[in-house]
Amino acid sequence: MKRLFIMTALLLSVSCFTSTECGEESLRSIADKVGIYIGYASANSFWFLPDASKYTEVAKREFNILTPENQMKWDSIHPERDRYNFSYADRHVQFALENNMLVHGHTLVWHNQLPFWLSTQWTKDELLKVLEDHIKTVVSHFKGKVKIWDVVNEAVSDTGTYRQTIWYKTIGPEYIEKAFIWAREADPEAILIYNDYNIETINPKSNFTYQLIKELKENDVPIDGVGFQMHIDINGVNYESFRNNLKRFADLGLKIYITEMDVRIPKNATHQDLQKQAEIYAKIFEICLENPAVQAIQLWGFTDKYSWVPGFFTGYDHPLIFDRDYNPKPAYFAIKEVLKKRITQGN
Ligand code: G3I
Repeated sequence: MKRLFIMTALLLSVSCFTSTECGEESLRSIADKVGIYIGYASANSFWFLPDASKYTEVAKREFNILTPENQMKWDSIHPERDRYNFSYADRHVQFALENNMLVHGHTLVWHNQLPFWLSTQWTKDELLKVLEDHIKTVVSHFKGKVKIWDVVNEAVSDTGTYRQTIWYKTIGPEYIEKAFIWAREADPEAILIYNDYNIETINPKSNFTYQLIKELKENDVPIDGVGFQMHIDINGVNYESFRNNLKRFADLGLKIYITEMDVRIPKNATHQDLQKQAEIYAKIFEICLENPAVQAIQLWGFTDKYSWVPGFFTGYDHPLIFDRDYNPKPAYFAIKEVLKKRITQGN
């Protein structure tokens, strides 16, 4: 009898460790209580994934905001100059709305994943017209449904200058303010943000970005927030610098979003690596929750199975909070503890 009891207890504890289907409160439910959004990047055509039902079950259980990972980008949504294709993006939005989630749109101006038809010589006026048409058409299409837009993405180089993109080289730096103005015209209610990577701590790139946004604000350009992508590795970040950086951007009156967080670690991670990763996630969440300007923390995916990391960083993997079989990892539980602690401390 005693042995049976121990066996049952063991089985229960194992299944509770490997699944959240053991009566545990979901991340989104705890985040709702804290008053913060927690989200993920929604995989391409997730409705066709071989494990779509598992994928959607976890997504809608755990998260209250999503960003389509690729299917609102130019090459997907605007495949020809005079033709838009909203069918994929609409499915992401529909899923979000059906499950009471917000949608964070990504992205209206970027230099990657552009359609082939854009790679020709444009005059400044022509390209301005193309950009205006794109922004107004896309934002109007999703008016009232996409509540936050990454209006301009990655316009700053790693050394802290304007990035030399088709937009910058043809139009000049004013493409940035124009993009925000057109987005505001198309949906006055949407929150408009600038989004970039490696601007989480104080460094030449974030200094340039800070100055850029400060000037936009001084010139009354309609920018509401900043997105820190937060693609980081097992070394974490300098937390003091992160905290101070959040503060200086918040002091500009901006809302802050963590937009694409993942913490890559070497392939074939050990238990210690996963623990270390959990500590990094927890620390970032902790610092974010200290600052009331932070509105949402979004991960770039949620299961390691569909992360962009292994295809991009040789030797790295396991960046997210669920493993390939949708089991929650130590990082999942660590985030949860931080959020719970916030409730008991009072928001
Ligand atoms: O659509 C083509 C498909 O037709 C082709 O068969 C296949 C073969 O490789 O490629 C498909 O395109 C891929 C595309 O994702 C759509 O899935 C590209 O190769 C691939 O490079 C592209 O990667 C995306 C990357 O942005 C492009 O820069 C990642 O999935 C996506 O996670 C990543 O997301 C970016 C954010 O938008 C901005 N911040 C950084 C972040 C990570 O790079």
